[in-house]
Amino acid sequence: ENLMPIPQPKTYGVLGNIPLIDKDSPTLSFCKLADEYGPIFRFEAMGRSVYIISGPDLVADVCDESRFDKAIGHLLKVRDFAGDGLFTSLTEEPNWKKAHAILMPSFSLQAMKGYHDMMVDIAVQLVQKWARLNPDESIDVPDDMTRLTLDTIGLCGFNYRFNSYYRETPNPFIVSMVRSLDEAMHYGNRLPIQNMLMVKTKRQYEQDIQLMFSLVDKIIAERKAKGDQGETDLLARMLTAKDPETGQQLDDQNIRYQIITFLIAGHETTSGLLSFTIYFLLKHPEVLKKAYAEVDEVLTGATPTYEQVLKLNYIRMILNESLRLWPTAPQFSLFAKEDTVIGGKYPIKKGEAVSIVLPKLHRDKGVWGDDAEQFRPERFEDPSKIPNHAYKPFGNGQRACIGMQFALHEATLVLGMILQQFQLLDPLNYQLKVKQTLTLKPDDFKIRVQLRDKKR
Ligand code: HEM
Repeated sequence: ENLMPIPQPKTYGVLGNIPLIDKDSPTLSFCKLADEYGPIFRFEAMGRSVYIISGPDLVADVCDESRFDKAIGHLLKVRDFAGDGLFTSLTEEPNWKKAHAILMPSFSLQAMKGYHDMMVDIAVQLVQKWARLNPDESIDVPDDMTRLTLDTIGLCGFNYRFNSYYRETPNPFIVSMVRSLDEAMHYGNRLPIQNMLMVKTKRQYEQDIQLMFSLVDKIIAERKAKGDQGETDLLARMLTAKDPETGQQLDDQNIRYQIITFLIAGHETTSGLLSFTIYFLLKHPEVLKKAYAEVDEVLTGATPTYEQVLKLNYIRMILNESLRLWPTAPQFSLFAKEDTVIGGKYPIKKGEAVSIVLPKLHRDKGVWGDDAEQFRPERFEDPSKIPNHAYKPFGNGQRACIGMQFALHEATLVLGMILQQFQLLDPLNYQLKVKQTLTLKPDDFKIRVQLRDKKR
């Protein structure tokens, strides 16, 4: 066979390849390294090794679930607070299968009907806040989008109101969550001795986790004390539903982990998506014009109905295209279940890990065409033309995002409502700067809005 060696950038002793990445935006560093080293290269960090992949044919191979499964080596620290919740568990852990079976129905397209009014409730708060601003006041887009997505998952998931629009500063839960995610992301790239010396960071990390646990445990305890009052949110389902296969329910510790998981997975990513989308709309007046036309035709009432949201096709295409260029969950990892070969020439051994770098994959000129770097929602007009293995913003197979419908319904609804009401303005001529926590967001992105004078 014609097996090829997998390239590796230069290493720095015990640090391996770590000095080559910007620790505050690892994914973007991987994209740059891919420009230089190609669709697959080996990356070594603290004795761990992972193949960084961005070529569509290689991605097609590693997305074959008979040969590869989700890896969590890079998420081990996140397990300190997300435990064996859906996002941070191995497929073979009993609680993954159980929780997956129990929670899938709550995330079906059909289930979105039940969340719609709660999503509108929170979106109205955003619109009202923006409508009351004075003309010279600007909006920090990612901040207000994070308020929205957090409050939405809180309300739809647990009937809990974070009331983020009533606060100047982020909710304490969020401060702790963002800080612990940040620490979890950096931890693995430091030497053990460095980590040992960071006593204050460690203490803060432990306090942050306790704060998250106590808020979540309080939500669970209050619901249990109140008893079943016909709630239909995620929490109600987690407290009562049984796994059809084993007949078992989720235990309290696992419910705690799932709630934290939904709060993490369910809000940063969607908030980033909405922020990037607003950015793209501001920079592409012709797309914005088409979006206004669709919104004005479809959204005829004071607030959108569930059925109207499903009719906002062009808005959906805009969101898809935004997720192509800036997938807000930019990387996911897999391990080989057996020795195998990918792309017909690269050998991967049993247990070895690969990580897919989405922003690079999503801009592959071979599959997306020469205009791959251009924002052009029309490429999503015909779903059959989307190159499947070059578009993975929600991950792959059975371990793909359970919240995809939720995120897309919420984002479509909110964008629709924003466009229905406002003209978007970019007085500072914002230049995109991408910031990474675990997810990607436009950094320091401020806009202004004006109420539209509607002819209707
Ligand atoms: C998994 C992306 C919104 C909950 C994933 C994965 C990706 C992803 C790429 C796979 C991760 C991996 O393989 O390691 C996104 C994006 C979103 C979004 C881009 C928004 C635009 C949401 C929402 C929720 C959610 C709103 C919950 C309400 C989850 C969960 C998993 C997951 C629980 C783990 C599923 C499993 O392995 O069983 N997401 N997500 N996500 N997402 Fe999302």
